[in-house]
Amino acid sequence: MSIEKIKVDLGERSYDVSVGVRLLEALDEILGDVFYSREWRRAAIVTDANAGELFSAPVEKGLADLGLDTSVISIIPGEISKNIAIALSVVDSLAEAGITRADVVVALGGGVVGDIAGFAASIYKRGVDLIQLPTTLMSQVDSSIGGKTAVNLESGKNLLGTFHQPVAVIADVSTLISLSEAEYASGLAEVAKYMFLCPEAFPGQVGGALETLIGRDTGDLLATVASCASIKAHVVSVDERDAGLRATLNYGHTLGHALEASTEYEGLYTHGGAVSVGMAYAALVSEATGLGEPGLAARHRAALGSAGLPVSPLTPAPPFETLLAFMAMDKKSKGDLTMVLLEVEGRPVVRTGLDPELLAMSYTRLLEERS
Ligand SMILES: NC(=O)c1ccc[n+]([C@@H]2O[C@H](COP(=O)([O-])OP(=O)(O)OC[C@H]3O[C@@H](n4cnc5c(N)ncnc54)[C@H](O)[C@@H]3O)[C@@H](O)[C@H]2O)c1
Ligand SMILES: [Zn+2]
Repeated sequence: MSIEKIKVDLGERSYDVSVGVRLLEALDEILGDVFYSREWRRAAIVTDANAGELFSAPVEKGLADLGLDTSVISIIPGEISKNIAIALSVVDSLAEAGITRADVVVALGGGVVGDIAGFAASIYKRGVDLIQLPTTLMSQVDSSIGGKTAVNLESGKNLLGTFHQPVAVIADVSTLISLSEAEYASGLAEVAKYMFLCPEAFPGQVGGALETLIGRDTGDLLATVASCASIKAHVVSVDERDAGLRATLNYGHTLGHALEASTEYEGLYTHGGAVSVGMAYAALVSEATGLGEPGLAARHRAALGSAGLPVSPLTPAPPFETLLAFMAMDKKSKGDLTMVLLEVEGRPVVRTGLDPELLAMSYTRLLEERS
């Protein structure tokens, strides 16, 4: 069993992100230290039908081997489940399972399960312990680390949420083999984001490193997920509440979120697909403001393209005015037009007060690049 441990340093609330191969089969061993420092008697595994079918057996066994009385709460897969009604039904199931404040909730699945289970664990009995067992590339490199939980409201995505740090994150990269092409590619876009923000954490050029990952070799995945998790862990340790540095992780997400919202989250774009287009756009905006080094946008297109990721909006592309309205509403933009830009790979800058005309011109360029 190969394993890398990365610490999220938050004083008394510090925890490890363990990244490795076949970790779900050795849960009792990996959880050992955390387990012995607590007095859990019961565990509730929150999962969805897909992740549950694939992975709940070894997880249940590992928890049983630790002597925990374990129950499973399963939700319907997909973003459709990320709402307050499902969150409250999970909370009800926690009560029915007899979970007390001295017990633990275990999130087994992708970002949807992690967000719902995390939200439920944060409000049930004013907060119970949470373990994240992420099984998608997206959740391993991003959503399971950092303590943000959320559900969607009719009026927008992730509008209701809490901060609730887990006590452990265990990312078993062997689980990524069964992911669909589309879900894997979506996670790959978040990996690309880390590569653009922090290229020195990865071997070689961004394009080559991304292309290698298409093969899903577990050794490559272990190294890559560990690098991404280290960056996220560092950012969260420095800026837990999103006041500064953490905002740079929003790279590619301003246009990305607008593209998702303008298609009303119909699933035309995966989250990562939208972010990939958003990064190609952010690089063009970076160049247009004079901040970004010439050639940055071309390098983005080549690197994302080499991993089969999209670099331009789907046809028919939404008019810029529609996207601008969503970009201005973005909850992270504080009412001003704000984007994360790059001077060059590895040097992000958060820019506020961006000129809408410059943004429109860059969008025209993005559309022109379509082949
Ligand atoms: N809290 C945060 O900081 C944060 C950060 C980024 C994203 N998110 C949230 O994460 C969610 C997206 O997460 P996601 O991309 O993991 O989507 P997801 O949870 O919907 O999972 C994608 C699909 O893959 C299936 N699946 C999960 N693991 C699998 C496996 N190993 N093999 C085969 N199928 C598997 C799931 O059942 C689902 O159908 C969004 O709701 C987003 O808002 C949260
Ligand atoms: Zn994202």
